[in-house]
Amino acid sequence: MPIYSEKVMEHFMNPRNVGEIENPDGLGEEGNPVCGDMMTFYIKVKDNHLEDIKFKTFGCGAAIAVSSMVSEMAIGKTIEEALKITPSSVAEKLEGLPKNKFHCSNLGAQALHKAIENYQSKQKKGGGKG
Ligand code: FES
Repeated sequence: MPIYSEKVMEHFMNPRNVGEIENPDGLGEEGNPVCGDMMTFYIKVKDNHLEDIKFKTFGCGAAIAVSSMVSEMAIGKTIEEALKITPSSVAEKLEGLPKNKFHCSNLGAQALHKAIENYQSKQKKGGGKG
């Protein structure tokens, strides 16, 4: 039985920013084929800032806590700042994750990064907001 920090338990019990954004500016999905867990991040971007973030997690308790923490860390940040969020910075903010649960923090950071990439590729195509 892995031992979770109080911070992980707190985010697991009261996850922030759960849900879905209709017509998001970016959407990122990440899954782990080993445990079968999935995560989806939705972002709204305004003036290069992440104005809103929502997520859905079909995963373990640590995955829920990680998504919640990632959303809290990234909300209000610029795109560049949000891209600096890494699995280890998330795990650190959560006051540590059990070793066999570290991949859960990869999922969170990657799903966010994918949502941002999705937003950026839309911008390049000129399909931005209109
Ligand atoms: Fe796979 Fe947590 S066990 S995301």
